[in-house]
Amino acid sequence: MPSTHRIFVNVNGTITPAEEARISPLDHGFLYGDSVYETIRTYHGLPFLLGRHLDRLQRSLDRIFLSLPVSRRELEAAVLRSVSEVPIDGDVAARIVVSRGVGPIGLDVTRCPRSEYLIYIFELAPGAVPPEASPESDGKGISAVISKTRRNSPRALDPAIKSGNFLNNILAYKDATDAGAQEALLLNAEGYLAEGTTSNVFVAKNDLVWTPHAFGILDGITRGVLFEEAALAGIPLGETNIPPEALFSADEVFITSSIRGVVPVTRVNGRAVGFGTAAGLRGPLTKRLQELYAARVERECGGGSPAPARKPARQAR
Ligand SMILES: Cc1ncc(COP(=O)(O)O)c(C=O)c1O
Repeated sequence: MPSTHRIFVNVNGTITPAEEARISPLDHGFLYGDSVYETIRTYHGLPFLLGRHLDRLQRSLDRIFLSLPVSRRELEAAVLRSVSEVPIDGDVAARIVVSRGVGPIGLDVTRCPRSEYLIYIFELAPGAVPPEASPESDGKGISAVISKTRRNSPRALDPAIKSGNFLNNILAYKDATDAGAQEALLLNAEGYLAEGTTSNVFVAKNDLVWTPHAFGILDGITRGVLFEEAALAGIPLGETNIPPEALFSADEVFITSSIRGVVPVTRVNGRAVGFGTAAGLRGPLTKRLQELYAARVERECGGGSPAPARKPARQAR
């Protein structure tokens, strides 16, 4: 495989550069966004919390009445093989997609006899993990906007399902790019903060950290890790309804995701928010949680920091 390709895909067991991978135009994942997925990343070459991601993938599959085309053990082995075989130096992101598979045009899922799996392995592009995610950074944060687009109601396409049908979040993210911001925060139908387009959101006020209730959002793996680490460290972290105005009076705001880790947010809708308002600096709880997250990564994946680490260079195949 030529090493110039930076995205590789394992389609039902065959790994090729993305440009050579083939799926049918009649795959309902492509036709209707009828698929679910997970995105994980490696640290020191090891996928972080792969088991939890596969658990959540199974929950998403159950919610859309879809089965894996292989056993969970085989899928896990396929992820590990894909991560280790692709000729990419350094840590990678892996996107595991399970799609409805090929069937006639139409909405009858019983006419798609076999689901498909695809495992995309790609380089962590510069900026994919913002330097602000590192506890050793200069403490600057990213900017976010509150999107005009609301998060889907859990009574429609429940955000708990990590669905490949992502247009709602794509529209929300356009609000961020239009404003030159790095993330868009979506409100739920009741007008409370829900989550970012690809992240969960947290605010800290008076030494307490709050995040929206898990109902009506994607219950992030990183969010879950923060609950565990905060409890062990004695940092009070709870769930509540957060009105968007709370962002502007918060001491600290941050977002979390598997690719980025814990990222301080210091501007919302163009206004400085939080602890170091004028200087645009993260607050002490954000830094502490970044350190705890980095230490957890180190415990699970054997050393290093969550900043992009490099695997030993390997021969292109
Ligand atoms: C909508 C949404 N919310 C939250 C997250 C963060 O979840 P995790 O920490 O499991 O990556 C993601 C990740 O892609 C997401 O797409």
